Amino acid sequence: MSAALAGENFAAVSIEHLTHRWASRTGRGTTALSDISFEFPAGKVTAIVGPSGCGKSTLLLILRGLMKASDGDVQFLYGPERRPGPPPRMSTVWQAFNLLPWRTVLDNVAFGLELAGVGRAEREEKAAAAIRSVELAGFENHYPAQLSGGMRQRVGLARGLVMSPEILFLDEPFGALDAQTKLYLQEQMSAVVESSGKTIILVTHSIEEAIFLGDQVLVMTARPGRVAATIPVDLPRPRSFEMQSSPRSGELFNEIYGLLRDEVRKAMMS
Ligand SMILES: Nc1ncnc2c1ncn2[C@@H]1O[C@H](COP(=O)(O)OP(=O)(O)O)[C@@H](O)[C@H]1O
Ligand SMILES: [Mg+2]
Repeated sequence: MSAALAGENFAAVSIEHLTHRWASRTGRGTTALSDISFEFPAGKVTAIVGPSGCGKSTLLLILRGLMKASDGDVQFLYGPERRPGPPPRMSTVWQAFNLLPWRTVLDNVAFGLELAGVGRAEREEKAAAAIRSVELAGFENHYPAQLSGGMRQRVGLARGLVMSPEILFLDEPFGALDAQTKLYLQEQMSAVVESSGKTIILVTHSIEEAIFLGDQVLVMTARPGRVAATIPVDLPRPRSFEMQSSPRSGELFNEIYGLLRDEVRKAMMS
C-alpha cells in the first residue's frame, strides 16, 4: 500500500490558534505555546524540532487529547474531502519507555490491549506480531532489566504499534541511546514508517533524525513556541542511512540549523 493511498484512510490533524499557558502556584504561569496554526498531513511524517522548553511535549499532550489547550482548536480530518471527525486511535512512544520491570516483554507489549479488555489469546498473538515487527522475536519472555537500552526502546515502539494507532506520536524516542544504536533504530524506524502509511508526529532534538525520518520538518521558536518555518523534506523514499551524508541532506541541515540557531540562543538567554 502506498503512503499516498494509505493517507486517505488516516487522519490529518489540524490545529488553529493553539495557545497553552501552564498555571503556576506563584501566579504568573508559563506560556508554553502561542497561537500555533498548523496541519499535520494524513499518512505523512512530520518531525518537530525546537529549542528545549519551547513546548514540544506540551503540544503532543494536547494533540493526544491528554490535556486541553488554554485556547484554540484541534481537529481530526478524514478522507480527501477532509471531513472533521472524532479522534482516531493514537499511541505515543516516549523517551523514558516506562516499561513495567516486573512484566516480560510480551506482557509489556500486551499491556495496552489488556487495559482495553482484549482477551488473552488475541492480545498475545498481536503482541507477538508487534515484537516480530521490531525484530525482537525470541525475547518475549525476557524482563526489561535483561535487555539493552536499544532493545528496551524497541519494546516501547512495539507497545505503541500493537494498538494499531492511526496516529503515532514519538517524543524524542532515541534521545537516550548511544550513536550507533540510534542510527540502527532510525533505519528500522524508517522502514516501519514507510510500510505503515500512518500519520506520524515525531519530536526530536536531532536535525539529522528529523530530515532522515520526516516528510516535512516543523521548526518551532523558543518559548513561547510558535511556528518558525515548515521545511518539506524532498529526499526520495525508501530512505537509507547513506542519504544522511548526501548533499541534499546537508543543504536541508544548514537551512534548519540556520533557523534554529537564533532560537536556541534566545532559549539559552531566557
Ligand atoms: N506540568 C507542567 N507544569 C507547569 N509547567 C510545565 C509543565 N510541563 C511543562 N511545563 C513548562 O512548559 C514549557 C514547555 O515545556 P515542554 O513542553 O516540556 O518543552 P519541550 O518538550 O519543548 O522541551 C517549559 O517552560 C516547561 O517548564
Ligand atoms: Mg519534551
